[in-house]
This record gives sequence, structure tokens and C-alpha cells, in this order.
Amino acid sequence: RRSTTSSAATNTYFSSRGFSSESAPERKVAILGAAGGIGQPLSLLMKLNPLVSRLALYDIAGTPGVAADVSHINTRSEVKGYAADEQLGQALEGSDVVIIPAGVPRKPGMTRDDLFKINAGIVKSLCEAIAKYCPNALVNMISNPVNSTVPIAAEVFKSHGVYDEKRLFGVTTLDVVRAKTFYAGKANVNVADVNVPVIGGHAGVTILPLFSQASPQANMSDEEIKALTKRTQDGGTEVVEAKAGKGSATLSMALVKNILHGQLQLFSQQQTPLDCNLIPYVRLGKNGVEEVLGLGPLSDYEQQGLEALKPELKSSIEKGIAFVHGN
Ligand code: NAD
Ligand code: LMR
Repeated sequence: RRSTTSSAATNTYFSSRGFSSESAPERKVAILGAAGGIGQPLSLLMKLNPLVSRLALYDIAGTPGVAADVSHINTRSEVKGYAADEQLGQALEGSDVVIIPAGVPRKPGMTRDDLFKINAGIVKSLCEAIAKYCPNALVNMISNPVNSTVPIAAEVFKSHGVYDEKRLFGVTTLDVVRAKTFYAGKANVNVADVNVPVIGGHAGVTILPLFSQASPQANMSDEEIKALTKRTQDGGTEVVEAKAGKGSATLSMALVKNILHGQLQLFSQQQTPLDCNLIPYVRLGKNGVEEVLGLGPLSDYEQQGLEALKPELKSSIEKGIAFVHGN
């Protein structure tokens, strides 16, 4: 058993190894923005995940406290906290998975795109460091606007010659979580049995739930499907307004823990907004996307939604690309 120690230089905390699972592979996860509203519960969930052997918690401030706190949990992973730019390289070195919830959240009245001004620069510099220190990591982008921050990451990686579309993800799990919850409520079925694919991006009309493919199937009118679609698209705004200036969704983001589940099914339904290639189902393995499973049959209403979302998604993607190239 290793004892709990700390080092002033790296704010390092070693947790007990007494619960180590010898058969599980070594796996390092880095969270960038670990001291924030999403970062803290996400750090907790990663610490609880038996697939993780090392957990690097990075933020510009606050990580010593979060790392010390999380490190006391009696699970196998070794937790280290890193603060400030000069420790970013150490935090990233050797990471298999990087999760990025760094940046500012919305306040009532704002769109996700209103966050671009601040978050684009944050994400760009973090991705420069990823390209340098862990170019093979699976990168999960949470920072908004996801429709632009994923293309920013892609362009940064391309400029360093390390881009792999199979390894870069916009985290849109929350849209799936919401679609399932709202559908189950309306259809009066057990939410645990519900599956609803969601395609597109992660903002307003670019979020397109495919209730025609939902299971179990329920008899719903067109009006009910429209209302469910709108509620799913506006789910983030619903939380932002309810929090009344104190940030956006953090607790329901807990589902991001699925990122590491099983290694064979990392995200059950994930899509990337890149290049308007809408990918509703992908099968993931430990090296990222292993199989693209297609869109499936769309209803007329969904087909219209798909056409309607493309211009906004395209312009958000172009905005991200232009930012990296200084246009
Ligand atoms: P928050 O303000 O509570 O936390 C953000 C953290 O990022 C802070 O701890 C801050 O210090 C840190 N940070 C800022 N600049 C940094 C940098 N350069 N390097 C490292 N860390 C840095 O915000 P939050 O509620 O955790 O939300 C974070 C982001 O996630 C927002 O952009 C929000 O819109 C987005 N978000 C996305 C989803 C999604 O589904 N993709 C869901 C909810 C929130
Ligand atoms: C969400 O969907 O809850 C997040 O993208 C946060 C937001 O600003 O809506």
C-alpha cells in the first residue's frame, strides 16, 4: 500500500493502491478544467471508474483541493492535481483519454455561440498541448460551443500532423440523456428501457432526436413528437434559466462517465459535428470509432429537421476552422 503524500511542485496525491485490480490495463485519463462545475463531479466519476489507473486533474486554479479530496476515495487510480500552464505538459503526458470541460458556461439570455469569444482560445491552447504531449489520446470535447470547439481541435491537430477523426469527439451525451428522459415521461414507459438516437450537433436546432427510431415504440401524435423534439433541443437552456446565472448543466453531465465504460462501447450513441457528416451510431473501441452504423430511416419531419440544421452546423464548423487559421 502506498501512503498518501503530497508534493508542493506538482500538487501530487497518491491514493491507496489496496483496491487495485491487477487484471485491468493501465489507463491514464486527464481532465482539463477539473475544478469547475462539470470538472469536479467528472473527476469523482473517473475516480470511481475501475478502468482508470491514473487520473490527472488540471485547471488554472483549484486543483490541489479537488485532487486531495478525490484522492481519498478508495479506488485503484492514482490521482494527481496540476495547476497553471507550466504543469499542463505533465498532466497530459501519457494520457490515453483527455476530457475537456474547460471554459465559461452560459448565463440566461446567452446562446452557446456567445461563449465562442472566450472558449475558442482556451480550447485552442489546450489542444496545442495535447498535440504535443499525448497526440494519440482519445479527446472528448465538452467546452461549448461544441459545434465550433470540435472543429477547432481538429484544425489544431491537423496543423500538428496528428489529427485522427476516429479519436476526436464532441460530447453530446446529454442530448441523448434528455431525449430518453423526456420520451419515457411522455410515453409512460420505464426510462431504463428507453433508447433514442440523437444526431447532429449540440446547439438548438442542430440537435435532432430521432423519435421515429425510439424504442420501445409508443403511439404519439405529430404534435407530441414536435414538442419532445423542441424540449430536447432546448434542454440546456431550460437548465441555464433554472440556475438563473449560476451556470449550466453540471450534474446531468454525470452520464459522461460512459466515456470509459466497457472499452468496447465507449459512447453508445455519439456524433461528431465535423464536416456535416452526421453519425448517429458508432461503435467505439479502445482506439476510438471502430464502426459507423449510419443514420437509419428518418421520418419526413426528421428529414426536414436534418436539412434545416445543416446551414447552422456548417457555419459553426467554419467559424471554428477560421479561428484556428486566423481569418
Ligand atoms: P465552470 O465555470 O464551472 O468550470 C470551468 C472550469 O474551466 C473552471 O474551473 C475554470 O478555472 C476552468 N478553466 C478556464 N480556463 C481554463 C484553461 N485555460 N485551462 C484549464 N481550465 C480552465 O463551467 P462548467 O459548468 O464546468 O462548464 C464548462 C464548459 O462546459 C462550458 O463551456 C459549458 O458551456 C460546457 N458544457 C458542455 C456540455 C455538453 O454537453 N457538451 C454540458 C454542460 C456544459
Ligand atoms: C447543455 O446542453 O446543458 C450544455 O451545452 C450547457 C448549455 O449551455 O446549455
